[in-house]
Order: sequence, then C-alpha cells, then structure tokens
Amino acid sequence: MATDAAASSAPLPRFPDGFLWGVSTSAHQIEGAADEREPSVWDVFSAGPGRIKDGSTAAVACDHVRRHREDVALLAGLGVDAYRFSVSWPRVASPGGLDFYDRLVDDLCAAGVRPVPTLFHWDLPARLDWRERDTAARFARYVSQVAGRLGDRVTKWITLNEPAEHTLLGHALGVHAPGERLLFDALPVAHHQLLAHGLAVRALRAAGARDIGIANSHGPTWPASREADDVAAADFYDTLLNRLFADPLLLGHYPAGLGELMPGDVEADLEIIAEPLDWYGINYYAPARVGAPQGDESDHGGVRIPAGMPFSLRGIEGYPVTDFGWPVVPEGLTELLTGFRDRYGDRLPPVVVTENGCSYEGLDDQDRIAYLDGHLRALHRALEAGVDVRGYFVWSLLDNWEWAEGYARRFGLVHVDRTTLERTPKASYAWLRGALREQRRG
Ligand code: FCB
Repeated sequence: MATDAAASSAPLPRFPDGFLWGVSTSAHQIEGAADEREPSVWDVFSAGPGRIKDGSTAAVACDHVRRHREDVALLAGLGVDAYRFSVSWPRVASPGGLDFYDRLVDDLCAAGVRPVPTLFHWDLPARLDWRERDTAARFARYVSQVAGRLGDRVTKWITLNEPAEHTLLGHALGVHAPGERLLFDALPVAHHQLLAHGLAVRALRAAGARDIGIANSHGPTWPASREADDVAAADFYDTLLNRLFADPLLLGHYPAGLGELMPGDVEADLEIIAEPLDWYGINYYAPARVGAPQGDESDHGGVRIPAGMPFSLRGIEGYPVTDFGWPVVPEGLTELLTGFRDRYGDRLPPVVVTENGCSYEGLDDQDRIAYLDGHLRALHRALEAGVDVRGYFVWSLLDNWEWAEGYARRFGLVHVDRTTLERTPKASYAWLRGALREQRRG
C-alpha cells in the first residue's frame, strides 16, 4: 500500500510525560579537525580510491569541533531535551582530545540540553582491529577514561552504535571501513564488539553510571513470498540483523548455531555481554524484503550482497522512497517495536528509538516532515499497543558526511552549505520545534 507523502495536518498524538525528544549525530560524520587526532579506520578507508561515492573524506565534515557553540545553539533553538553525539576514540587518544568533549558537555548543560554520548560510532583508531579480542579490553579502558572526565555531568550513556552494520558493511562486505570482505569469517568482529559492550557497561557502572543503553539497527524482515525457501532465507536474515546482537544482550545466548562460530570462552563472555541494561536503543530506517538466493548479486540501498550468501535482498514496492532510495514504511516501526516486545517479553528493558530519519534535498523539505510525522504516529501506535518506548531521536541534526556516500546524502534538519559550512534550518526544523512546543503545552 502506498503511503501519503504529505504530513497529516492533524496534530501529533500526545506522547507520555517525560518522553525524551532528541536528535543524533556521530563524531566522524560532523567533527572535522581530523588533523587534531590520530587516524581512524575511516580516514584510512576513505583515502583509498573508489571507496567513497563523491571521492570526499570527513577531514572537514561540518567543522563541528570549531563550530560546536553554533550547533548547541541550534539544538537549544529546536527545543529538544537531549542530544545524542558520539565520542571519537581516536580524538580521546590524542593530546587534548577529551577537552573538546568537556567543553561540549558544559555548553549542552548550560543550554539545557541533556548530553547522551555514544562511545563508539564506527571510528575505531586505525591501529586497532575488532578481530583482536584485546580491542574489547582497550575499549573498556577508554570508556573508563571518558566516564572519569564527563561522568559528573553525563547521566545517560550509549556504548556502541550498530555493531551489526559495522560488522556486516565494514568487515563482511567491505563497503565500509575497514573494508574487509570476510563474509562469515567476520563473526568474531561481532563477538568482540559485544564483549566490548559488556565490559563497557561494567566500566560505566564502576564509574557510577545508572542509565546505560546501546543503539542497535533493527528492522522487520519480510519474506519475498510464502514459499518455504524464501521464508527460510528471511528467517536467516532476521537472525543476522535482529537476533545476532539482541539475543546475547537480552537473553544471554546466541541464536542456535552461531555461538559455536564465535572465538574464545563464549559462555564466560556471554555473562559479561548480558550485563543488564537500563534501556535498549533501536535505530530504524526501513524493513528488508528477503528471498532465497538467486545465484546472483542482490542490491540493498546500494549495498551489494554477493552471490553465495544464503539469502538475497529484494526491492520493497508500493511505498515512496527517499533520495537514498530507501522505502518509507512508517508501519514497519510499529511492527518492529511490537515484534521486539513479543519476542523478548520482560527481558526487553524500556526502548528508545535512537535513530530514525531520511535523506532528501532542499530547504523546504516537506517530504522529511511527512516522514517524521508518519514515523511518530507509528511509534505512538506501538505505545498504545503497550510497548514501553521512552524516547525518540531524529537522525540527524545536520547534513553530514554519510560514510561511503560522502556528502551526497542530506539527512539534516539543518542544511550545511558544503563551501561556506553555513547552517540553515530547514522547514523540518521549524516543524519539529512546533511539534515539541505542542507536546509541552499538553
Ligand atoms: C545509520 C548510522 C548513522 C547514519 C544513518 C543514516 O545506520 O548509524 O551513522 O549513517 O544510518
């Protein structure tokens, strides 16, 4: 069924008191000032030929390190409760790196915006490697260092962003940094990130933190048909995308057959990985339609799945698409949230939607308004169905450097001029500000 591209003119339904409204960014995508920190895997990767669509790097990005005061003012003007940003491990490892986050957190607090840092959003120091178990222990030490410095003002923490995408795109398929094409040999990378997460939760708790989550990418997986081989392929994909990371975190074990493929003392590690969380973050963009392998490559939003995988990705028809070609399926968010609650029951802590958004061109971005409006209504339907959702973060505050797509994709509520770096709020920024005011009026 095609959904209407226009935002409903009716006001949004009322969200519960205390619902956390925010926007998200990540360090590598906005900070710039790359010469003031050690290199990350993304610096190395994007320097290689043909890897980034427009040949760009994030060396300047939005120059946020120098312009963060202006960006904090934009956040305050928008009226969000919280700002999800990421801390760059390579910057923290460089002289003076933590000073920047110290200032940012001070400025956010002064502006009345709650800082919600993500401790790893894909920019691993280039000298490290997730295939090595030791990277997890090093991550925990870095997390202690950050918590020691910021923990007097930061109360809400996110350990990792989307370890599933980082594993799949970066280590299995090679379209993201570090560009490895390990296919199923990338599974240790998943395990070591999960272990890093568990060790980080312990490190944060030791530093006194009481509000800890993770941001995982999830989406409904729709079989291409009711044929048994399509259903089996979709189930397999669901296991990789949705269960490989959520089951160990929430249930303390891997989906059947996968634990055996992980390195080290997996049982002992799972105890660490399953450290209780205060909330679970879900990044939602679109469902996937999955069928049996077709003996050929398949394409998913520009990501080519090689032949030989036990599934193929098919197009989703009948829905509008964003400029990125991603289908706009708000009801997928309701399905995902209710499905998660049904799957994990009381093992699922309160949920926060830590990313949701779309890439469209233009300052009068009515299509982004329609997208956000539709997804917020879909989220509200999940609330009505009894799912305990506590917050919603738009991806993203600023047009930024969208990984292998370079600067070609514009996800921001605020336009960033590529030459002058001037910030201009879009129509969607004004719409969200109005919607938040409405919510607060009650
Ligand atoms: C998510 C990433 C985020 C951004 C959005 C569009 O998968 O976490 O950095 O790239 O997609």
